[in-house]
Amino acid sequence: MAARHFLTLLDLSQEEARYLIQRAITIKNKLLTQGPTYTPFTNRTLAMIFEKSSTRTRVSFETGMTQFGGHALFLSSKDTQLGRGEPIADTARVLSEMVDAVMIRTFSHQGLEDFAAASRVPVINALTDDYHPCQLLADVMTWTELRGNVRDRTAVWIGDGNNMCHSWINAALQFDFNLRVCCPEGYEPREDIMAVAGDRVTLYRDPMQAAAGANLITTDVWASMGQEEEQAKRIADFAGFQVTEAMLDQAASDVLFLHCLPAHRGEEISETLLDDPRADVWQEAGNRLHAQKALIEFLILGRIDE
Ligand code: CP
Ligand code: NVA
Repeated sequence: MAARHFLTLLDLSQEEARYLIQRAITIKNKLLTQGPTYTPFTNRTLAMIFEKSSTRTRVSFETGMTQFGGHALFLSSKDTQLGRGEPIADTARVLSEMVDAVMIRTFSHQGLEDFAAASRVPVINALTDDYHPCQLLADVMTWTELRGNVRDRTAVWIGDGNNMCHSWINAALQFDFNLRVCCPEGYEPREDIMAVAGDRVTLYRDPMQAAAGANLITTDVWASMGQEEEQAKRIADFAGFQVTEAMLDQAASDVLFLHCLPAHRGEEISETLLDDPRADVWQEAGNRLHAQKALIEFLILGRIDE
């Protein structure tokens, strides 16, 4: 049987996506009440290929595999033959002979697809220039835990139409919520990605208007990894798009603020926003662990109905 990959949220059915959120909550609750006693992956290995920096993604995948009784292998492109030009497909075939799953953080989404096409074991997208689906599993999990069912609620994305924004757009479709995307001209998300989500996603230009009555507000850095040289231009172009407490005041009384982190206080968020009780980015970051454990379990073992 061909391996199941997770390259975007759209690789799941709606039903599977919802299952994963519930399963992640179950796995978390069991960990908190019983400790790491569930070890379905004794002696199994997850290879983690990083071509970009990471704190949360590396620690959550590695810790998740340890808690599952297995092992995670950190592979930096600098130290592997990938960095010296060994073809992606050859690397995928070699790793498939040895490990049980592969997680990749890279630049090119096409490169990730090429790897997955040659891999016999599940491949997980841990961020490309175009998507960050693992983060969205944690984000929807956090929203669900803190506020209940997200169906037909309204989320607002303020800022760059980047990889995180694209995954929020996919999530609106998969989890049936409405998404307002508010970005400056020239920084819109990709039209083809927006088109798939249909009328679940609407483009806004005015952040205060976008925030009005919203149940969730989120943003991300203005210059992503690989865009460091554009930092100064982007700070100018995103003037007026900083998420502030005043913006949250426009939203619904149950508004939740999320940020995938790392955050730049004083740029995309006010200096004090993460201290506001309406923000819960620490629980969000911690949920990377539980959401990805549910994902790994699903890709290797299939659904676990308890
Ligand atoms: N949010 C996120 O993916 O963080 P890292 O870059 O630290 O992995
Ligand atoms: N958009 C950011 C997300 C980091 C987790 C980046 O790609 O750098």
